[in-house]
Amino acid sequence: MSERSEVTIKQSTAAREAAAPPRKEAPGVRISGLTVVYKTPAGELPAVRDVSLTLEPGSITGIVGESGSGKSTLALSLLNAVQPPGRISTGSVEIDGLGDVVGFRGERLRKARGQHIGYVFQAAQNSLNPLKTVGKQLLDLGRSHGVDDLRGLVREAKELLGRMGLDGARVLDSHQHELSGGMRQRVGIMLALVLNAHLVVLDEPTTALDMITQANILKIVREVHAERGLTTLVITHDIGVVAEVADRLAVMYGGRLVEQGPTRQVLAAPRHPYTRGLIKAIPRLVGDIDEAQALPGRPPTLVTVPKEGCVFRERCALRMDVCDTVDPQARVDEGAYGPRIVACHAVTVKERA
Ligand SMILES: Nc1ncnc2c1ncn2[C@@H]1O[C@H](COP(=O)(O)OP(=O)(O)OP(=O)(O)O)[C@@H](O)[C@H]1O
Ligand code: SF4
Ligand SMILES: [Mg+2]
Repeated sequence: MSERSEVTIKQSTAAREAAAPPRKEAPGVRISGLTVVYKTPAGELPAVRDVSLTLEPGSITGIVGESGSGKSTLALSLLNAVQPPGRISTGSVEIDGLGDVVGFRGERLRKARGQHIGYVFQAAQNSLNPLKTVGKQLLDLGRSHGVDDLRGLVREAKELLGRMGLDGARVLDSHQHELSGGMRQRVGIMLALVLNAHLVVLDEPTTALDMITQANILKIVREVHAERGLTTLVITHDIGVVAEVADRLAVMYGGRLVEQGPTRQVLAAPRHPYTRGLIKAIPRLVGDIDEAQALPGRPPTLVTVPKEGCVFRERCALRMDVCDTVDPQARVDEGAYGPRIVACHAVTVKERA
């Protein structure tokens, strides 16, 4: 890793360490043995398979992986919002103060979303109601969650929009078509934060933004996270976004979590061949555009993902016979900064970073 990217990572880590300690409202989340399947012409196939992930109270966790790796499906599971033809087939999602949301239905589920779990769905910039102003949609959101102080809610929304560089009053008076993609994306982030939920899930929150606006928005996400004592999950295909914002990093491939650990350690010394490939492909992290190397091959689909053995083997330079038949189990190393978890037959030596 180059000096420049080391510096960037050190700076963002220092900023996070200087932030206020997490308050006790921040809930912990424990996802255990989660499998989510979609019905296809070839039968029910898993998009997320046997995933276990803990979000520590007050932490920001980033999930990265290429398109189709199952990131959004995992995010939707946190809200128990996987829609047919999908369903959670096994596993649990335990949220402190709420319980296992996989069993939630109806009113209980609706209340949990919004009040306890704020979220921005992927492509939030396209999910506003085209017929209503943003302000009207904000009031609808407040009323549907029993907010008494609607003036306070509007004040809060304007404040959040202002922090993200927008004229809050103007945005609230606007319809979707009057706002740019980047503006709509910021409206999505405002709607995720405005009800004061303490668990926040952001699925590709900055894809429609240019680099400078993206950096500003990530800074605000970090600030709001620390000020309010949140537990935050950020989903992205851009490992640079995670480097900016997350305390812990989880890497997904073919519906599996292949590596997890403290962001700084994983980026500085990735262990799984897929994580190494992802990092090598990012000029911003490698430090030099000429050194960046695209990962060969393409990620699998639900139909082509191997049913047994390692899901990454078709693209792996370290592939061995055992990789074709035996699923690599997650191996946990407890480190001073939290556990490092890797699922790969080739990673046998402890490399404490
Ligand atoms: N409604 C659906 N019906 C069938 N298959 C689906 C459905 N939604 C997602 N999938 C499949 O599940 C897998 C995981 O999709 P998911 O959207 O969770 O991936 P992702 O990592 O969020 O990708 P992206 O980076 O493109 O957003 C993909 O193979 C996708 O084609
Ligand atoms: S388990 Fe085998 S195929 Fe999979 S990443 Fe490790 S070495 Fe490569
Ligand atoms: Mg997605």
